[in-house]
Amino acid sequence: MRKKIVAGNWKMNLDFQQGISLFSEIVNMAKDEVVGQQQVVVCSPFIHLHGIAQLAKGTSRVAIGAQNIYFEEKGAYTGEISATQVKSAGAEYVILGHSERRAYFNESDELLSKKVDAALSHGLIPIFCIGETQEEREAGRYFDVIRGQLEKGVFHLPSEVFNKVVLAYEPVWAIGTGLTATPEQAQEVHAFIRQQVAGQYNQSVADQLTILYGGSCNPKNAPELFAQADIDGGLIGGASLKSRDFIDIVKVFN
Ligand code: G3P
Repeated sequence: MRKKIVAGNWKMNLDFQQGISLFSEIVNMAKDEVVGQQQVVVCSPFIHLHGIAQLAKGTSRVAIGAQNIYFEEKGAYTGEISATQVKSAGAEYVILGHSERRAYFNESDELLSKKVDAALSHGLIPIFCIGETQEEREAGRYFDVIRGQLEKGVFHLPSEVFNKVVLAYEPVWAIGTGLTATPEQAQEVHAFIRQQVAGQYNQSVADQLTILYGGSCNPKNAPELFAQADIDGGLIGGASLKSRDFIDIVKVFN
């Protein structure tokens, strides 16, 4: 049975108190309403990590994640945050390769590969994002794009290390647009990703890999998306900022 994960990506939202309040709601609702084996993850801005990690103590149901790290161990990298630092604050996961970081902050495949290595070497679980743009989809190049992101981002890892990675397919054209991929579109790509992993490693590695879908996922479309054979949960943006919506998505796996 593959691990089911619903991860919230708060992006650059919520001041210190708002983050504490939202997270408290999520933890309390999860305790009362979530009864399956699914893992809830909240990936917050750095300022919230330590505070929400304290609130998550006593429950393994809700884990904490960061939204980025730099790959160096420590040093003169003004403004950056290391794997060690986010781990020390209570993070267990870290989102890497998000399309917003690839696009707005020019994060290259090479840089992301180093960040993946840094995360894994410090015991963080990377949620590694891949996905095509509207233009790439319309050009019919989305399989090539995704294969390239896998090859340059994570396929350098030996299988026993790759096993720790979570992948997230996030079609860029579906992020924040309300234009969700159809279950068929998402399943097609998730199956392709799993097939690529089987080819790179073996079927056992592919079968146990958790692949999340992200891109305008909400309580209405989550049930059909999560019912797909190769979709193992979601990476949720906007809907994760509302505790009711986020927990309703999590409860799909109850
Ligand atoms: O990382 C998840 C995010 O990119 C999806 O955003 O708002 O479309 O759910 P949203």
